[in-house]
Amino acid sequence: MVKNFPLEQSNPERPVISVYPDAKAASVDVAQRIASLIRAKQRDNKQIVLGLATGSTPIYVYEELVRLHREEELSFNNVISFNLDEYFPMQPDSSQSYVAFMKKYLFDHIDIKPENVHIPDGTLARAEIEAYCSAYENKIKAVGGIDIQLLGIGRTGHIGFNEPGATRFSKTRLVELNDLTRTDAAPAFGSKEYVPTEAITMGIDTIMAARKILLMAWGRGKAEIVQKTMETEVTATIPATFLKTCEQVEFVLDNEAASLLTGLEA
Ligand code: GLP
Repeated sequence: MVKNFPLEQSNPERPVISVYPDAKAASVDVAQRIASLIRAKQRDNKQIVLGLATGSTPIYVYEELVRLHREEELSFNNVISFNLDEYFPMQPDSSQSYVAFMKKYLFDHIDIKPENVHIPDGTLARAEIEAYCSAYENKIKAVGGIDIQLLGIGRTGHIGFNEPGATRFSKTRLVELNDLTRTDAAPAFGSKEYVPTEAITMGIDTIMAARKILLMAWGRGKAEIVQKTMETEVTATIPATFLKTCEQVEFVLDNEAASLLTGLEA
């Protein structure tokens, strides 16, 4: 069900868009694709590097991966993972941390080796952050780069926590969170005032170095930003538009998130 979205002449990029009836169907397919690559690498005795996202969007993907582990003997013993981002400051044992999120939805239920899991550290002293971020980049490179990068999209058009203004060649770094992003995160923190104002995130360049990138968006609430991303020229004002310049990107949408797109071709 892959559809191509023809963009205007002024914008030569033609991202691949896959539209599914609903988020569950899309997520099961994404999880199956990940599982196939994990198994293919296992047959070749190789490791696979996954770039992982948090937020509500990837939850069904993780549920399906857990099901595959429990019911279909999918092992994660050859998986190395790098998470996109973490709030700063953030204690890993706090329920709002992305460490807690990943444990809850994935890591506590599969056989990934703890030493193969990487999530940006929200407990660093400010002075340590720069060196830590460049070490994070180096670790990704040292294991051969990311094979599959999962992404959600924020209503600001952010990917990871690359907010409007993030540059194409940005790397892992400390960033300030956008006001809308903090509003959207408020329910998890009880109130917006408790949402951290900063985060550590992989950069746009870090993300775009992945060999396959799946940006997922579900529901009517994402339809506007999906439409803007597709129909606006490539601009730092909407960081997700950078993805349109790389051919390894696929936008995986449900019908509702795709509902404002015009000109989708079957
Ligand atoms: C957060 C995360 C992003 C995520 C976005 C969308 O800001 N840092 O990686 O894509 O939220 O969240 P949701 O999937 O809940 O809509």
